Order: sequence, then structure tokens, then C-alpha cells
Amino acid sequence: MKAIVKTSDGGPEVLKLSEVETPKPKSNQLLINVKSTALNRADTLQRKGLYPPPMGESEILGLELSGVVEEKGAAVKGFELGDRVFGLVSGGAYAEYAIIDYRMAMHIPEDWSFEKAAAVPEVFFTANETLFKLGSLSCDESVLIHAGGSGVGTAGIQMANNAGAKVFITTGSNQKIEKAKMLGCTEGINYKTHDFAESIKNLTEGKGVDVVQDFIGQPYFEKNCSILKPNGRLLIVGLMGGTEAEIDLGLILRKRLQIFGSIMRPLPLKEKISITQRFVDRWLPLLKTGVINPVIDTIMPLEEAHEAHQHMESNGNFGKIILRI
Ligand SMILES: NC(=O)c1ccc[n+]([C@@H]2O[C@H](COP(=O)([O-])OP(=O)(O)OC[C@H]3O[C@@H](n4cnc5c(N)ncnc54)[C@H](OP(=O)(O)O)[C@@H]3O)[C@@H](O)[C@H]2O)c1
Repeated sequence: MKAIVKTSDGGPEVLKLSEVETPKPKSNQLLINVKSTALNRADTLQRKGLYPPPMGESEILGLELSGVVEEKGAAVKGFELGDRVFGLVSGGAYAEYAIIDYRMAMHIPEDWSFEKAAAVPEVFFTANETLFKLGSLSCDESVLIHAGGSGVGTAGIQMANNAGAKVFITTGSNQKIEKAKMLGCTEGINYKTHDFAESIKNLTEGKGVDVVQDFIGQPYFEKNCSILKPNGRLLIVGLMGGTEAEIDLGLILRKRLQIFGSIMRPLPLKEKISITQRFVDRWLPLLKTGVINPVIDTIMPLEEAHEAHQHMESNGNFGKIILRI
């Protein structure tokens, strides 16, 4: 089969279209003829050699897919050959064929394209697990979502808004702020021209917010804690700005803050099945009726994966970058 393989650790140029062996499904697995996959920031780290796949998983990049069931293992229930499915995988989706455990697979709603379906799993799962399961964000609360134009951010804005929370975002682009407002955020802060902590204090009359969803890490840690209300929750979901931070712990103690970390890929299958189920129960019905929607920035052919990575690393995207196979 055709797949994108990385010839070494490095820049986007190491991604090459190659011929590799087609995987074989085990008893609980489906073999999917992949029609679309989507980029995630983690793919760029894996490409650089900084985020290896969990033991036993495909070395091929790609954490989500949509496609058609080509083969199924003996223990599979609820899926037939030819079914259109989508879901989260631990790797292997930048390819013509990929494996998914049937308990992680979801049927694609009839009126959805493969591109739309591939844009959903990683970012809606992540936003649900962090904002709601860990962060317990509720309707009378406020949240600051950093990187509001990211795939995860564009999902989270809509979900938080749907839950009735007041949503603030940061981004490095005024155009992204305008787009984020269309998704339901109240105010956006351009971190390149404004200090986000000062802006949040001004926007909330000094009160701060209940929840911060952070993808930046090091440079934002202390400021994130400073703008949380008493009993506030900080969700550490990414570390794009660095990993080591210093803080006056008194800030956390006095305000009784809670700090959560979250990562999905290395989790045991059982937990990932539960993550899928929580998404199916709460958010899939709202996606099916179009109350919320995945935001697609660009659709590119699989063979242009290297250009797609360049686009993501230039911070050019608002929402998801899709690869069509
Ligand atoms: N823990 C988990 O389970 C999990 C799951 C999925 C994703 N993630 C994490 O979530 C984050 C977003 O992922 P994604 O795939 O949605 O990303 P994405 O679509 O590539 O968006 C990332 C955006 O973040 C902003 N950004 C990048 N570096 C920055 C920096 N140093 N300071 C401030 N802003 C910066 C850029 O937008 P601007 O134009 O605004 O600068 C960029 O477009 C990543 O950190 C990823 O690793 C975590």
C-alpha cells in the first residue's frame, strides 16, 4: 500500500510517499481503506523524533482517520465490510490502509464527507476530556482557551459556548480572533500585541476566569495561575512554548487552584474506548445536527504531507488540515 514514511528524524522534507506492507487486522480490529486523515501538532513532534509511537503501534504518522471497512477480525461486532467509519488511532493513518479497534470506531453520519469525519476525533475528544471531564466547566463559568485558532481550540470554543460558558481566547492573529468570534468566543486577545493576563483582568473587572486551557506551558504558567479565580482549574494540554516553569506556590495554595495534565496517545485501549464513548454520548448528537462543527482549514492530497506540515508549523491554519488519500 501507499503510505507517508519518514526517512529520518527532521523537517517536513523527510516525509516521503512510499510502498509499505498493508497491516493485518487482529481479532478485535478493523482494516480501514483510509479516505482521509488529519494533521495534529503531535505529528510534527513525531516527525522530529520527539514523540515516538507507543510500543507495538505503527511507526507511520497519523492519529485519526475516516474510511471504509475493508476487513474485520473474528470478534468484531456492529460493523460490516463497506461501512463508512471514523475514529482515533494510535498511529498509521497517513496511509492507504490502517487498523482501528472496533470499539474505537464510529459510523460516519450519512450526510458527512470523509474529510469532515477525519477532522473530528482528536480535537473533540481532547477538548471534552480536558474542559469538561477534568475541568468540570459549567454554564455559569468562564474559560480562557489559549491557541484559539488551533484544531483543539476551534473545537473547544464551540463546546464551551454550547455548554453556556463565557469563552475568551488568545491567538497571534487578529484574523483568527474574528474567526473565533464566529464560533462563539466573546473576546480574543492577540498575544503578540497584548499581555493576555492584563487583558483578562480588564475584561473580567479583575475577577479572572474559572478555567484556563493551556497549550503553551513554560512562558504562560505563572500568568495562567494569576488570572484564575479561587478554586480555578488549569488544564495543561500542550507545551508548545517550553516545559520548565517557576512559580510562587503561594499563588496556588491561597487560591486553592487545581492543575491537571492530559495526554491521550499512550493511554491503555480501555481508557481510549471510554474517551470515545463519552464523546459519542455528549457531542456526536450535536455534531450530527450541525449545532457544532469541525473547522476545516485546508484539504491536501496525502502526497503533499510535507507541505501540510510546513503549513501547520508556520501557524497558518485556523482549524484542521486534512489529508485526502
Ligand atoms: N494532551 C492531549 O491529549 C492533546 C491532544 C491533542 C492536541 N494536544 C496539544 O494541543 C495543542 C494544539 O494542537 P493542534 O493540533 O490543535 O494545533 P494546531 O492546529 O497546529 O495549532 C497550534 C496553534 O498554536 C499557536 N502557537 C504555536 N506555538 C505557539 C507559541 N509558542 N505560543 C503561542 N501560541 C502558539 C499557533 O497559532 P497562533 O496563530 O495563535 O500563534 C498555532 O497555529 C498542541 O500543543 C498539541 O500538542 C494535546
